[in-house]
Amino acid sequence: MTRKGLAKKIAALTVASAMAVTAMPFNVFAYGETDVSTSTFKEDTDNSEAFKTWKANVWEGGEAQYADSGKIALTPGKTEKDLNFAWYSVTKGTPAIQVWKDGAKGQAKVYKGTAASITAENWQGSAYGAANKVSIEGYFDDNTAYVYQYTDNYTGDTTVWSAEYSYKKNSSESFSVILTGDPQVGASGSSSDEVASDASVARDTYNWNLTMTQALKTCPDAAFLLSAGDQIDKSGATSDNNKKTRESEYAGYLYPSVFRSLPIASTIGNHDMAGVDYSNHFNNPNSEDGLGATEAGSDYYFSYGNVLFISLNSNNRNQEEHRALLKKAVESNSDATWKVVIFHSDIYGSGQPHADTDAATNRIIFAPLMDEFDIDLCLTGHDHTYSRSYQILDGNVIDYDISSGFVTDPEGTLYVSTGSGSGSKYYNLLNYTPYYIADRTNACLPAFSTIDFFENALTIKTYDYTGAKYADDFTINKTSELISVDEAIEKADEILSGSDIKSYTEESVSKLTTARDTLKTLKESYTTAPDLMIAEITTKYNTPDDRIKGYGSITNSEDKDVLVSGSTANRLKAGESTLIDKTIYTQIKGGEVIANAVFPIVDASTLEAAKKQVLAAIDGLEKPAEEVVNPSDNNSQGNTENTAPQTGDAANVWIFAALMTFAAAVLAATLRKKEENCEE
Ligand SMILES: [Fe+2]
Ligand SMILES: [Fe+2]
Repeated sequence: MTRKGLAKKIAALTVASAMAVTAMPFNVFAYGETDVSTSTFKEDTDNSEAFKTWKANVWEGGEAQYADSGKIALTPGKTEKDLNFAWYSVTKGTPAIQVWKDGAKGQAKVYKGTAASITAENWQGSAYGAANKVSIEGYFDDNTAYVYQYTDNYTGDTTVWSAEYSYKKNSSESFSVILTGDPQVGASGSSSDEVASDASVARDTYNWNLTMTQALKTCPDAAFLLSAGDQIDKSGATSDNNKKTRESEYAGYLYPSVFRSLPIASTIGNHDMAGVDYSNHFNNPNSEDGLGATEAGSDYYFSYGNVLFISLNSNNRNQEEHRALLKKAVESNSDATWKVVIFHSDIYGSGQPHADTDAATNRIIFAPLMDEFDIDLCLTGHDHTYSRSYQILDGNVIDYDISSGFVTDPEGTLYVSTGSGSGSKYYNLLNYTPYYIADRTNACLPAFSTIDFFENALTIKTYDYTGAKYADDFTINKTSELISVDEAIEKADEILSGSDIKSYTEESVSKLTTARDTLKTLKESYTTAPDLMIAEITTKYNTPDDRIKGYGSITNSEDKDVLVSGSTANRLKAGESTLIDKTIYTQIKGGEVIANAVFPIVDASTLEAAKKQVLAAIDGLEKPAEEVVNPSDNNSQGNTENTAPQTGDAANVWIFAALMTFAAAVLAATLRKKEENCEE
């Protein structure tokens, strides 16, 4: 595929202006942008004989799967050696898991857990009195097959155990996970969701099961599922009827049999956030601090192999709480090669109606945290359409050449927004392509991704529910050479302010100072001023004065953006947030796309060259020549000899300047050519 690049116009041949780029994305996406009003996916399901048979014989008939809201859900434990379990039971007892290595039931170990009293029922007449949780720590080894059973009440030898289920622990040194979002079981719509045989829950469950079954075919060794939120649809949880609907929808979400063996690492969507049912159905690790909580639950984290996974509850707008969780997670996993964050709100997505409205508001809260903690990959949902960003740092696209489908040692974070996991609901893509979007798809089909993690690379691949490709693959490589811009500046600052600096030659110190200052100037040229809104959003969160409500909507109409039509869009108007001004209002005004817009795009090659110059200057620091006495010289004053290298570094500054000028000239010429092509 050709590079989905960005046409560029260099305003002037200077370092600073190389960071201020005018561009208009002209992306061509390979996998389709369907108008959702033309989708027949729902009708096709209803007319399918396979669906009708399943609904009659499996879902509603047979063992009446639709009545079982209490199915066991596995979640990752604190590390790859751990595993957590949660399920419902009718009565409260002493829950336990019995687990053994396949073929060695004689060595089975029993782990007891805790049961919390609950009152939960569904429209199918099932009622539950206990939410059971068991956490197993330190038991699971790589490349080993296990079998487990569970019980609601452990009574020693007389215990009544469940059927046996398998759990295969593959390598955690390199491993794969499945990613999807918004199955939102129940969202496809029916005349009533307050009946046992609700059509939408049946339809969405059927398709959700197809997606997950295919995902395991595509990625049979998946370590777990990353579920990007909106597991269920019924967002209200105050009335008893709402609660019953939610539990009927959980019967659908937990139905796929793959979940008896595949752990689920989910995050809390706006449709999940109100009910306590979420935290009863999932036993999330490292969630005990309750940071970022709503009624449903809170932020949590776990490590698996060389990857740190952090799930944030994006319905909570208190940035300080999320920062505290991130800090704890990162500090307690300082050796992680990769840092992956998942939350629901698609802060750099491409779908209507969220990507440039409520989710953009949440961008103010969450995007700076991705920068601050140097997150490699940020996974989101909410859009029901797939999108992948360029590398983003502080709202800027760092414009690496990704024409070959990979980037190496990049600055910034890659943002992915998942498609619909079940096809229960699709949203149209934005009618313009945000400057930060590198790829996007909405072919109105359920979709999932796989992410392969290695020591030096991660690759994301995306498929529809039949296993056909649904988006371009993308890889991030990370080498042992990786030093970020911030780290390079920090290293230079440390050396230049250190006591040893006087021991180096004036010339080599001067080179480092110049290189460091150049890099700092570049960084400053793309750094946003502190956001005007963030303190207010955090301190007023959930108070009567909160100008943001719900999951990121604008409370007062006077704070909203006024469109050309005179109506308003549900996003903060210009002038309120520096990040929104930079990332929204550089592209649209009054809801219309600005012609010849100027976007925050950083020329990656210029940035990399400046960073390398700092590192070269650090390597080039040299000590003054020592006096060397020539023993053959009788003159006691002796001769001196300069033993330091005389060539190479002295020319670096000039070479760098020449390179920058040349690069800018080439880019300007390229742009002229592209503009000519576009005018044809
Ligand atoms: Fe959703
Ligand atoms: Fe959502």
